[in-house]
Amino acid sequence: MSEMLTKEQITELKNKGNEHLGYLIDKQKDSKNIVLILKNLGHLPENFNGEFLLPLLKHEHPQVRLLAVKNIGKLRNESFLTALSQMLDKEANTSVKREVVSAIGRTRNPKNKEILYKILQDKDPKIVCQAIRALLVFENDKEVEEQLKPLVNHPNEMVRTVIYKEFFADQESKTPSSLPHAETYDFLKNVVVNGDVLEVLKYVPNESVHLTFTSPPYYNARDYSIYPSYQAYLEFLEEVFKETHRITKEGRFLIVNTSPIIIPRVSRSYSSKRYPIPFDLHPYLVKNGWEFIDDIIWQKPDYSVKNRIGGFIQHRKPLMYKPNVVTEYLMVYRKETTKLIDWNIKKLRQRNNRTKQSTRRLRNYQYLEN
Ligand SMILES: C[S@@+](CC[C@H](N)C(=O)[O-])C[C@H]1O[C@@H](n2cnc3c(N)ncnc32)[C@H](O)[C@@H]1O
Repeated sequence: MSEMLTKEQITELKNKGNEHLGYLIDKQKDSKNIVLILKNLGHLPENFNGEFLLPLLKHEHPQVRLLAVKNIGKLRNESFLTALSQMLDKEANTSVKREVVSAIGRTRNPKNKEILYKILQDKDPKIVCQAIRALLVFENDKEVEEQLKPLVNHPNEMVRTVIYKEFFADQESKTPSSLPHAETYDFLKNVVVNGDVLEVLKYVPNESVHLTFTSPPYYNARDYSIYPSYQAYLEFLEEVFKETHRITKEGRFLIVNTSPIIIPRVSRSYSSKRYPIPFDLHPYLVKNGWEFIDDIIWQKPDYSVKNRIGGFIQHRKPLMYKPNVVTEYLMVYRKETTKLIDWNIKKLRQRNNRTKQSTRRLRNYQYLEN
């Protein structure tokens, strides 16, 4: 019967008084039905009696426990605190545990700070972050700050980032760019330059570029430039991307198109050597302040790549199979900042509106939002 329950019926039961809901949940053998009811409780009226949710905190199904905690959280009622705290030590499911911390935080009661301080010691960084979030509610509270600030040295990078952003980022002296975020210099617009990258980049001012999209040489696989060693090649690229970092505006992008390459063998008694360029280059980029955002796989047409499966097709020996490599990587990075990507969207909105208007006239081009 309960499978037929609609959202409206659940709302009606909720408003009738809780013994109806409690009775209904009690009757359910199938946890799916309990989940359905708990999911559809929506806003809980003031003085809502959530007692019937307490036994569900021990339910075997994590989704039921999670939704019971979520609804208890909506009540912001101190009387559930003991039950919630008791869950912290035993709860094995991370999502449920996070919800418990969130429910404790939602009470916004300074009396609960001690419990939240204890949670800062949790071994799961996601739980620690949730406790930090709950504690940040107590703004300008010296005691809370004393507990949180040392976490800037926490072993986990997410925890360190949150604390750095909250307490230290604004204090860093940063020379502001002389240009508004959406603007750049006219001499950089629509210009083609033929020259050595490291020489030419010297003429590009700090923080003047929004996006660099580049396809550097494939080490020594083609005759573009010859490097004395793979290490020298990676160090050359490191220099280039340090400079690129300097000219890039806060929080803006770099896309590097590379792929693993093969350098042919010296003779039949040697193997050819593979160089995983995108993966080897990645640590150099991160080390120099580029934050990894995404990887895009570029699939090229079959006819554009070296055909390596001829031998297999001819002899049909499984161990002779060599796939044709039809992909390259576009590794997307962002100049590290404590600002969200959305910050850029807001900063550039006005300009985007203008660009949108002008690109409407160009029928064959698709305008890409940010
Ligand atoms: C993989 S190709 C990319 C080609 C590019 N996508 C294009 O369509 O012209 C690498 C390019 O980098 C150029 N190159 C190599 N060393 C350079 C350097 N030091 N400064 C500037 N360009 C360089 C090569 O001449 C080659 O054109």
